[in-house]
Amino acid sequence: MKTIRWGILGCGKIARKFAADLALVSGSELTAVASRDYATAAAFAAEFPSKHILGSYEALVSHPEVDVIYIATPHGFHHEHAILCMKHGKHVLCEKAFALNTRQVKEMIEVAKEEKVFLMEALWSKFLPHYKKLMEFIREGKLGELKNVLINFGFATPVPTPARMYDPKLGGGSLLDIGIYNIFFAMSVLGKPDTIEASMTAASTGVDEQCSMVFKYKKGAIAQLLSSFSTNLATEADISGTQGRIRLKTRFYEPSTTFAYYPGRVDSETIIPIEKSIGWGYSYEIAHVNDCLRAGLVESPVMTWKDSVELMEVMDEVRRKAGIVYEVD
Ligand SMILES: NC(=O)c1ccc[n+]([C@@H]2O[C@H](COP(=O)([O-])OP(=O)(O)OC[C@H]3O[C@@H](n4cnc5c(N)ncnc54)[C@H](OP(=O)(O)O)[C@@H]3O)[C@@H](O)[C@H]2O)c1
Repeated sequence: MKTIRWGILGCGKIARKFAADLALVSGSELTAVASRDYATAAAFAAEFPSKHILGSYEALVSHPEVDVIYIATPHGFHHEHAILCMKHGKHVLCEKAFALNTRQVKEMIEVAKEEKVFLMEALWSKFLPHYKKLMEFIREGKLGELKNVLINFGFATPVPTPARMYDPKLGGGSLLDIGIYNIFFAMSVLGKPDTIEASMTAASTGVDEQCSMVFKYKKGAIAQLLSSFSTNLATEADISGTQGRIRLKTRFYEPSTTFAYYPGRVDSETIIPIEKSIGWGYSYEIAHVNDCLRAGLVESPVMTWKDSVELMEVMDEVRRKAGIVYEVD
C-alpha cells in the first residue's frame, strides 16, 4: 500500500486533533507541518512528530515530499490557501466552511480541475458511523415520509475568544462555523430547500452571533435550525417522519452522539448501538482521502464538489436573507 504523505497548513486547535487521528490511519505519514512562524510549527511537531518542520506555508506547498495538504486555517483563508496548494500541484483536504461564498468555492473547483489535483471539503460528519446509520434508517423507510428536522447547535464562546469567531475577515459568525452542520444534516435528509427564511442577531463586528433559519420544501417538509455563539444549547438533532423519529443527542455531529430511535410515541425510546469510532473521529475522512488518492481521483465520490457548492449556495442565501455580509461578497 502506497504511503500517503500529509502536510498540515496552520498549526491551530483543529490541526492538533487531526494530527492525532492521522497517526491512527495506516498508510499515512505526517511528513510536514507548517506555521507562519517556525517556533509554532516546532512546538506542534513536539506533540505530533513530523519529518519536516516548516516556518512558512510557501515552504510547505513547494515541499517535494508532500502529497496532500490539510488546510486548518480560519475559513476566510481557505480559498487563498487551497489555491496556493493546488497551484503547486498538491492535493487538498480543506476544513469547513470550504470558503466564504459560492464564487470562491467554484474558483477552487476550477483550479482543482485545471491542475488535476484532488480537492475535498473536510465535512467529517459525512464519514462517521452514526451519519451512515441515519442515512440507512431513512433509506429503509424506518421514519416513513420525512416531515421535519429540528436542529440546534450552540455554545457560549470561550474567554479569551478566538479572533476567528467574530472577525469578518476570517469568516467569523456562527453560521459558517457551526450552523453549517445544521444545514448539512438538514440537506442530507431533505435535500436542497425550495425556500429559505433566515434571521440573525449581530455581534459588534457585524457577523452573526446567532442565526435562525427555516427551510421549506414543496413536498411538505420543514426544517428549523438555530446556531448560537451566545448560549450553551443542547446541540441535538431531531429528524421526524410519519413513522418515527430519530434524535441525535449531544453532540449530533460528532461520533460520541447517542442515536435514539422513537418508532412510535415520544416515550418509546430505543437506543441504536453505533460502531465506536477511534480517536476524535477524523480518521474516517483521512482514510477516505488516502483511498481517493491511491485510486487517482480528483473528486471524492462521497463528499462531492456538488455537495460543497450546494451547501455554500444555501449558506449564501441564508446570509442574504439574514443580512450577513463579508467583504469578498
Ligand atoms: N472539522 C471540525 O471538527 C472543526 C473543528 C474546529 C474547527 N474547524 C475548522 O478549522 C478551521 C480552523 O479552526 P481552529 O479552531 O483550528 O482555529 P485556530 O485554532 O485559530 O487555528 C487556525 C490556525 O490558522 C493559522 N492562521 C493563519 N492566518 C491566521 C490569522 N490571520 N488568524 C488566525 N489564524 C491564522 C494559524 O496557524 P499558524 O499560526 O500555525 O500559521 C492558526 O493557528 C476553521 O475553518 C474551522 O471552521 C473544524
